[in-house]
Amino acid sequence: MIQVAVILPAAGSSSRFNADDTALLAPRSKLDEDLGGRPVLQRTIEMFTNRPEIAAIIVAGPHEPEAYAAFELRHGDKLALLGATLCRGGVSHRYETVKAALELVPPAVTHIAVHDAARPVTPPELIDRLFDLAQRHPAVIPAVEVPDTIKRLDPEPVPDEPADPAAAILGLSSDRPSDLRRVAQTVDRSLLVLVQTPQVFEAGLLRRAYAQADLSSTDDAGLVERLGEPVLVVPGDPANIKITRPGDVPLARAIGGFKPPAERATHKRF
Ligand code: CTP
Ligand code: MG
Repeated sequence: MIQVAVILPAAGSSSRFNADDTALLAPRSKLDEDLGGRPVLQRTIEMFTNRPEIAAIIVAGPHEPEAYAAFELRHGDKLALLGATLCRGGVSHRYETVKAALELVPPAVTHIAVHDAARPVTPPELIDRLFDLAQRHPAVIPAVEVPDTIKRLDPEPVPDEPADPAAAILGLSSDRPSDLRRVAQTVDRSLLVLVQTPQVFEAGLLRRAYAQADLSSTDDAGLVERLGEPVLVVPGDPANIKITRPGDVPLARAIGGFKPPAERATHKRF
């Protein structure tokens, strides 16, 4: 049987989650949102705790000392009970966070799975399938087909001033950058996919990928691809959502069968 260390990058800033104006005053971590009485982060960890293949779970929290201390205060006890190890993540990029967590991976594991801490409702059958395939393929990632038409944009913004005779006479124009673009091309989407996690790698391969000088990549498989090594794509699950924006929280509750806080008895709220 494979021996897997799971890395859960949890050092992100939830910026898209807090993008609307009301959130600016009191930004929240999406990993603290309530899923049936437990924070998102805990639900994610629990997807892995009872699996026989799992040898270690490493959670990488915020880099900044103050934010890390708050993270440890909020999650530390529960993480310890669940047998997860905590470390500080990177300053600004996910790959820095994964690199930091890699240092804590026990040398004896055969495989490393990297899974977004913000992806708390992964179907167990998908994890089964990925772990099974990882026994025969050095790099295995889940992905789903692209549901919408894809177009490539012309990079040049298209100006569109509302007709305002007075402004025209005075030679005034707004300095707001235009968000309008022209289509450059319609892209064939039949070979395009949307990539999910967990991404599972032979331990030596992922270590080699992270020993490269250029680590810029938004996922781990990208660094394995840069080595020229093959990455196997297996059908993911549309239900394996990542919490990115506020509307994803009720979606995750619906997928996971978790009641929203208001519908649960008061003594069961945290
Ligand atoms: N992540 C991380 N370190 C970073 C950036 C992201 O550990 N420097 C983690 C996030 O905590 C999350 C996962 O990577 O669990 C996926 O990232 P994403 O959904 O982009 O989360 P955020 O970066 O927090 O959100 P945003 O991009 O909207 O700021
Ligand atoms: Mg991000």
